[in-house]
Amino acid sequence: MIYPIVKYGAAVLETPARPVEKFNDELHQLCDDMFESMYAANGVGLAAPQIGVGRRLAVIDVTVGKNPEARLVLANPEIIRIEGEQREEEGCLSVPGFRGNVARPQYVTIRAQDAAGTSFEMNGEGLLSRAFCHELDHLDGVLFIRHLSLLKRDLIRRRIRKLQKTGEW
Ligand code: NI
Repeated sequence: MIYPIVKYGAAVLETPARPVEKFNDELHQLCDDMFESMYAANGVGLAAPQIGVGRRLAVIDVTVGKNPEARLVLANPEIIRIEGEQREEEGCLSVPGFRGNVARPQYVTIRAQDAAGTSFEMNGEGLLSRAFCHELDHLDGVLFIRHLSLLKRDLIRRRIRKLQKTGEW
């Protein structure tokens, strides 16, 4: 099932998510639905709060469906090591039409559980490191615009408010 992506302004996007506790069929279905919803939106990552589910769960595929082995399920992920810095333009499916330069670590090591509940550690570099940081931020209720300058963030907020008023958001 393809879920609509929740947009900026919804409380679920700015609320810390609760841990995943049950690794059952329901969770597996949710993961499948999240991949389907992410691919439909042409995203490289999607966090559960973005489909209105306040759980610490994210899916990532930096190949956007080209390589099935690149599909990652991250349940209860945490960052355990960071190194270096990269500064690139970043966007978010929940803030469509807006992008901004965000500094992220060049290398990140995460620890997470997969869809079966098995713990694993993984290194990410470049885009994957950025995706880890962006999706983990979502689970803490943080959107990428929080990392922009106050000026840029206010500009985006004002534009979104205008779009909300005219029903275009
Ligand atoms: Ni996002």
